[in-house]
Formats: sequence, C-alpha cells, structure tokens
Amino acid sequence: MATAVAAPHEKLEIPGRQRLPPGPRAPAILQTLAWAVAPTWVMDRCARRLGETFTLTFAPSGLKLVMVSNPEAVKTVFTAPPEVAPSAAGSSPIAPVMGPSSVIVLTGPEHMRQRKLLLPPFHGERMREYEDVIVEATQRDMASWPLGRPMRVHERTRKITLEVILRAVFGVEAERMEALRTAIGGLLEPVRMPRLLLFALRRPSLQRPSGAIGKALDHLDAVIYEEIGRRREQEDLEQRKDILSLLLQARDEDGLQMTDGELRDELVTLLLAGHETTATAVAWAIERLVRHPDKLRRLLAEIDAGGEDDGYMQAVVNETLRVRPVVPMVVRMLLQELQVGPHNLPKGTRVVPSIYLTNRNPRVYEDPEAFRPERFSDSGPETFAWIPFGGGIRRCIGASFALLEMKLILRTVLSALEPSVPARGGRLWRTGEWNQRRAITLVPAAGARVVWHKRT
Ligand code: HEM
Repeated sequence: MATAVAAPHEKLEIPGRQRLPPGPRAPAILQTLAWAVAPTWVMDRCARRLGETFTLTFAPSGLKLVMVSNPEAVKTVFTAPPEVAPSAAGSSPIAPVMGPSSVIVLTGPEHMRQRKLLLPPFHGERMREYEDVIVEATQRDMASWPLGRPMRVHERTRKITLEVILRAVFGVEAERMEALRTAIGGLLEPVRMPRLLLFALRRPSLQRPSGAIGKALDHLDAVIYEEIGRRREQEDLEQRKDILSLLLQARDEDGLQMTDGELRDELVTLLLAGHETTATAVAWAIERLVRHPDKLRRLLAEIDAGGEDDGYMQAVVNETLRVRPVVPMVVRMLLQELQVGPHNLPKGTRVVPSIYLTNRNPRVYEDPEAFRPERFSDSGPETFAWIPFGGGIRRCIGASFALLEMKLILRTVLSALEPSVPARGGRLWRTGEWNQRRAITLVPAAGARVVWHKRT
C-alpha cells in the first residue's frame, strides 16, 4: 500500500483505525450551499482551520469528499494503481455528454487502451502542426476587437480556442467546419448553463440527457458520424495530419481499430475538454498580467526581443495555472483502503487532490496568493506541487497542446495590443476578478475585462 509523509502538525493515525479526517463543524446543508456558491472560499477557509487534509460533507446525499493538498499525499493518490483509486469522473456532470467510451469516463484497462490510442496526436513534434492554426485563429478574431473600450477577453478566447480545436481535430475544409461549429455551439450553450448541473444532480448516471442538451447532442452526433463516415472513405488518409485521421488509422495492441462509437465519444471529449479550459487559462493570464504592470512590461520586452528565449512567457503561463487553476480538483474513488499521509482512508472514500490548494500550499510556495512568475524563472514546477493538469495515468492528455496554445495566443495578442484595467468597474475588481464556478471550472467573474490599446 502506498504511503505519504505526514505534515508536521498532523497526528499519525493508528493503523487499522479508519476515520475520515475532520471537517468543518457547519451543518452539511451549509457546506453544500457554500460549496455551490464559493468553492475557493470554502477550500481556503478549511485549509486555514483544518490543515492540508479535511472532509467536506454534502446534503442531502451525505456524500463526503476528503480533500488533500500535501504534495506527498497528492503523489500517493495520483500514483495509486487504478484498481485501488480509479478516477470518479464517470459520475461527473459532463460524463453523459462525452459518452461511455470517453477516455475521461472509462477506468482500468479500457481507459488505458483509449488513452494509448489518443496519445500520439498530442506528442511533441506533432504540436508543431498546430502552431499556424493557433496564430491564424487568434489574428482572425483580433481583427474585430474593440480598442479603447472595455472588452471581455474570455468571450473572445473561447471563440479562438474552439476554432483551434475544431481545426486540429477535424482539419476540415471551410464549409464542413461551419456545420461542426454550429453543432458544437448548440451543445455548449446549455452545457454552460446550470441546467446541466441540475440534470446531473437528478440523475447522476451515464444516461443520455434529454431536453435542450439531448437535442443539441443528437445534432452534434449526426454531424460527427457523417464526418467519420466521409473520412473513412477518403483515400489520402495517410497524408492527413488532423487528429481524426490519425485516430482512424490507430490500432491497439491487438491490431484493432476504434469503432465509430468510440471515435464519436473521443472526439466530443476532445472538443469539450480541449477548448473551454484553455480559453479560461488565457483569460486568467491576461487578468493577472493587467494587474501586475511590471510583469506585463517584462513579458512585452521578451516578446519584442523576438528571440528563441520564451523563458518568461513559460513562467507566466506556469504561474497563471498555479494561482488560478481552471479545474479546481479531481476525484478518485477508493476501491481499497489507502494510507494517505497519516490517514488510513477506507474503501469507498472519495479522495480529492485539491488542485487549487496544492498549487497554493504555503509549505511549498512563499506568499502563495501572489502572482509572481519569477518563482518559475530558474526551475520548472515540481510534479506533485503544481497540478493544474491533474496527474498520474490520468494526467491531461492535452497539457502540451494547452501550454503551446496559451503561449501562442498570448504572444500574438500582446505583440500588437496592450491591456489596461477599465476605469468603470475597476474599483470593484481592483485587486482582481474573483473565481466564479462554471460547471466544473473556475472562470474570471467579469470575463477578464480589459481595455485594449494598440502598441506602437
Ligand atoms: C489549460 C487547459 C487545460 C487544463 C487546465 C486541463 C485540465 C485537465 C485536468 C485537471 C484533467 C484531469 C486529470 C486527472 O484526472 O488527473 C484533464 C484531463 C483530460 N484533458 Fe485536459 N486540460 C486542459 C486542456 C486540454 C486540452 C487542450 C485537451 C485536448 C485537446 C485536453 C484533454 C483532456 C483529456 C482527454 C483528459 C482525460 C485524460 C484521462 O482521463 O486519461 N485537455 N485535463
């Protein structure tokens, strides 16, 4: 059984005794309401009062989440074998939309099979193929950005990243693209809305959604299946570089290819997991930079120098993902007991590496709430103390893609434009926009509002 080192202030539990770590004294209903409205406030408060490990209880289900944020404990959970601590993403609100064969939903050997099939398009050299797509999509959208008056950056980065993921995944010519864009747009509106969460709370299963989401999903599926069918017929498949063409040619260890159903689920997964997240991360980067003029100036100087060195850009991206992680936590379900630090957690526990708290652990980071890219100037982040992309065998498949995309969007935008904090509403957001929950992500509450000025 894997173990983790206890934090200095935590008492070691006697082996064999299985008690969950302490939690807030507030009744479960209050914990639930506070969590729904202000998850980062809840996590900050609990960490201050209870330390690196605590248990939240939700009403009316009685569901308990054991949150951990000690890097050693996080390592224990992330490196536990899938038969001990598989992902609990199958019961997340997005699972019914992504489908039963989605790599995010599957666990065990089936998960590994899909993951291995999906990984090659996201490997190092392949990334180069996507560079022009990212720069072009950014420049095209920037052409309509207003100057001298407030703009919500998040709305625009969402458009850019949707365009990028559609082109990377399908590589399709313009008129097919429109059908896909409309179909995914139709799905995203209801998915963003609280309706999906309500649906998931009512029926936490893999059953396909009905109503507006169901209809939008039917339409998207029809367009995707048609595209898969057309692509299977195509004779130049081997020359094509897009992800769908690569997946159509992929074979598993037994030489089997992916079925249409599997392809559909992975494509929808990549479309959904691959664009809102990155769009939000870029919006947070601008939101942080605009409130730290010295950091912004240093980044602009590096961009203007135009050399190969993008060390400060990398540091800005790492620091943004540390201090404003888009996905605040990941959930693992214990199928066997697991010793996590001083706690012997029983089978059935939902153990949650808190990305938000781990990334701000004061034992690792000095002044953890401060936006200070310089902390990553000399060395990259530590594997289990910087976990915006999760970890272990479930670590985000698109991490390199997302990092590349963040850097290229920021470079393209900041080469031409410089942001300032809008005068109106500026007082409210003087120190920053707060974290607002949107489905499973945390987004800047005002959409990363800035005023753009042309750079000379
Ligand atoms: C800044 C942007 C992104 C963030 C913050 C992010 C974050 C995450 C996190 C936290 C997980 C769960 C990891 C775990 O359970 O340990 C994950 C999984 C995943 N992400 Fe991302 N992601 C981003 C961008 C992307 C992109 C661009 C793609 C694809 C194009 C992508 C595809 C996936 C997939 C397929 C999984 C499931 C991996 C598995 O279960 O094996 N993500 N991501």
